[in-house]
Order: sequence, then structure tokens, then C-alpha cells
Amino acid sequence: MKTRAVVAGLGTYVPEAILTNHDLEKIVDTSDEWIVTRTGIRERHIAREDETTSSMATEASRFALKDAQIEAEDLDFIVCATNTPDTIFPSTAARVQHQLTDKPIPGVDLQAGCTGLIYGMEMASALIQAGSYHNILVIGADKLTSITDYEDRTTAVLFGDAAGAFVLQRKEDTDHGVLSSYLQADGRGGNLLIQPGGGSLMPASKESVENRQHYLKMNGNETFRFAVKALPEAVEEGLKRAGLTVGDMNLLVPHQANLRIIDAAVRRFELDPERVVVNIDRYGNTSVATIPLALQEARMEGRLHDGDVVVLCAFGAGLSWGSNVIRWGK
Ligand code: UT7
Repeated sequence: MKTRAVVAGLGTYVPEAILTNHDLEKIVDTSDEWIVTRTGIRERHIAREDETTSSMATEASRFALKDAQIEAEDLDFIVCATNTPDTIFPSTAARVQHQLTDKPIPGVDLQAGCTGLIYGMEMASALIQAGSYHNILVIGADKLTSITDYEDRTTAVLFGDAAGAFVLQRKEDTDHGVLSSYLQADGRGGNLLIQPGGGSLMPASKESVENRQHYLKMNGNETFRFAVKALPEAVEEGLKRAGLTVGDMNLLVPHQANLRIIDAAVRRFELDPERVVVNIDRYGNTSVATIPLALQEARMEGRLHDGDVVVLCAFGAGLSWGSNVIRWGK
């Protein structure tokens, strides 16, 4: 029994509008058949112009707070994982605080590609275990369509918009909560998945805009090769740090980037598909929001039980990869 960060609340938000593969056929040279076979995606939700990462994050956070039965004023820290902040500064975390309450709450944005949510859970859990924080809001929110190039068929078909939020809460003498995490990053693969323009390396200019450098660029093949290795490594290393094995895992909640990457892990671990959450068909890749969306869906379907060992794992830009091992329940 230890002091741990337990998941006290979970909330999600997806925009209403749906972009189907057939809609995309009218925008780029692609086909529903290609997208389904190569990725498993059938449709994705896309945000309205006036919806931003922070507005989606705020909606998800309201649901998470309600689920945790606490008020925004009870929060003592906000970690917002995102790759598409409303603005580089001020932070999306501060924007969410402002949309939730007039009470000041410390907060930061965290950028670790699609692995950001996993990093956020570990950092919040460590802050809670260190003793100074009680309730931390961990958000994963991205409006990837704002940096998607709809003239590039190799990326245009992959991404959607969404947000998810967890309330992590300090609990003493418990078996539940975040048991362990495994975090990794290796900048040698940085150019495989990159938004080249807009930072100090390539400030916005007429040329950077004309050359479409403010959009996400990905070497799909190389990123795929990395992901099929990173996912199982993250699962095994996370479990090892908790003193557990794949056999102890009740539910795997993998980042939803490509069904073939998830299937490779299922085959490698010889998992019953019942133990793996997949919803990429309806949302596409929503970056840091895929895991809360999938976990919420599993919960709604009654697939999460008190005491279950749940493994969240992700991989993405950086390159980055990692996992959180959680014993479900408060
Ligand atoms: O969340 C962050 C991490 N991201 C990932 O993990 C993504 C990892 N990568 C992938 O999921 C896959 O590599 C993709 C889905 C991006 C691409 O699938 P692929 O099976 O690796 O396709 P490919 O890039 O090898 O392309 C195969 C063919 C090419 O045509 P040729 O050269 O064989 O004639 C492409 O031009 O498919 C073509 N292609 C398309 N065709 C129709 C590429 N995109 C499309 C498209 N529609 N949208």
C-alpha cells in the first residue's frame, strides 16, 4: 500500500462534424479502400473554425471534473499535453484555467508528440507522490486539422480533432492508481515527424508559408517501422517497472495511429482482442487525445473493472514513446 495518484475522473470531447473517407476522396487522390486497408480509419471528427485546442480541452475537463465530483477551484495544477496549442504562448493550460474558473491555478503545456499524454500522467503522478499536490488535471488535446496539409494525401487522411482529460488525485494507502511509467525520447528520429515552420529554426516567412512548411510532415514508412518496435517495448518496460508481466494486463489502451501497428502488438503478445481497445475507425489519429477517447469508450462498454491492470501506451514525434501502468479504481 502506497500513496499514489488515482484516476478520480475522466472526460472527453469530440467535435460534432465528421469527415469520412468518401469526403476525402473529393479532396485528395485517395480511396476509402486504401485508407481502410492501410490504416483502419473510416472517419474522423473535425473541429469548427471557432473551436480551438483550449476550447475542446475545457469541454473535456468539465466532464472530468464532474466525473471526479470536484470543482475547478479544487485543482492545484494543470498539465496540458498538446502539439497544437492555441498560441505558442500564453499556454493552453492557462487558457483552460481561465475558461474553467477565475481562480488562478498553476499550469504548463507539455509537448512530446503523441506521447504527451503519457508524459503528463507520469509528471502529475510524480508531483502528487512528492506530496505537494492533491488534484491535478492532465489534459491531452489537439486540433491536428489546423496543421494538416489537405494537399498531401499521405497525411491528410490520418488525423482528427479531440480532447481528453484526467483528474489525478492523491490517495494514501492504496493499491490503485498509477503504478509505474516508462518514458523515452530519441531526437535522432526528429525529422521523421515534424512541423518544420513557425519555431526559432524557421520563423514564419513568405517562403515558409509558400513552401507549406507550417504543416505536419511525416515519413510514414520509417515512423511505422519505429512504432511497431516502440509500442511493445513501452508495454513490456512499463509492466516490468510495476513488477508485472503482459499476462497481468487486463486492458491495453494503445495510441490509435494505425490499426496495423496495434494488430502487430496483439499478435506479438498473443492477446485476446477483448483485452485491447480499438476505436481508430471512428476517430482517426487524434494525437494526445486517442488514449482518453479509447479508455472512455472501454469504460462506457463496461470493459473496465475495479482493480484491473490497464496499460496506456503511445509513440510519436520526438521520436518519443512510453507507457503508464494503472490499477483502475479510486
Ligand atoms: O501518431 C504518430 C505516429 N504516426 C504513425 O505511427 C504513422 C505510421 N505510419 C503509417 O501509419 C503508414 O506508414 C501510413 C498509413 C502513413 C502509410 O501507409 P503505408 O502502407 O506505409 O504506405 P506507403 O507510404 O508505403 O505508400 C504506399 C503507396 C504509395 O504509392 P506507390 O509509391 O506504391 O505507388 C503511396 O504514394 O500508397 C500511396 N499512398 C496513397 N494512396 C492512396 C500514400 N497515401 C495514400 C493515400 N491514398 N492517402
